Amino acid sequence: MQVIICKDYEEVSQEASRLVVNLLRKNPRAILGLATGSTPIGLYQNLIRAYNNNEISFKDVKSFNLDEYLGLPRTHAESFYSFMHRHLFDHIDIKEENVHLPNNDEDTLKKDINDYTEALKKNVPDLQILGIGANGHIGFNEPGSSFDSETFAVDLTLKTRIDNLRFFNHIDEVPTRAVTMGIKTIMRSRQILLMATGEGKAEAVMKMIKGSVTETLPASILQKHNNVVVILDELAASRL
Ligand code: GLP
Repeated sequence: MQVIICKDYEEVSQEASRLVVNLLRKNPRAILGLATGSTPIGLYQNLIRAYNNNEISFKDVKSFNLDEYLGLPRTHAESFYSFMHRHLFDHIDIKEENVHLPNNDEDTLKKDINDYTEALKKNVPDLQILGIGANGHIGFNEPGSSFDSETFAVDLTLKTRIDNLRFFNHIDEVPTRAVTMGIKTIMRSRQILLMATGEGKAEAVMKMIKGSVTETLPASILQKHNNVVVILDELAASRL
């Protein structure tokens, strides 16, 4: 694991976008695994800027998002589908047919989950972007998730729902379930970039890097991947 410690969120976002821009310049047909949450927003803003400056194009890029809520239509403002369009896709030249997020239609869930796993075997991300939950989750692989899982439907922990309450008006509105890439799927990516900022992530970050590899701290599996870059601000790195 390569660990880069930056001063603040802005520097973390700059460092991360440098890595993504370099990848897209070398490989304009790259397959990107993308994440939602507050953490990657600064990275996405920098990528939009680099696109507007003609440094990179997304016209041949394919994207696969990590996860999506169940029980919210894609059109809901807080679905990850809407989030990704609002924060990235609507501002760049990625083709809509190259954008993939787990489908969240309950009627076809089983087949869609299987199709997502198969699509990701054929389209292994060159780079998977990750944040980390305060409980050490990656994607929506909550503590206790099997390291052997591909895409699956998951019950969200109350902790994760409370963490995500800031995007909703009331806890009852926060979805209780989601579809997520599994750990095995994430680990197949050629390179992984995990970003974390703020004191609230410090303990999970410390356990991810220095703790034992255990399903109770899902991100700890990254110790077993041979190409991981972790970009932290000083607060998230404060317990290392
Ligand atoms: C969410 C997402 C994760 C994300 C994490 C941290 O629940 N499913 O992909 O990394 O929580 O979010 P944030 O970056 O807002 O702290």
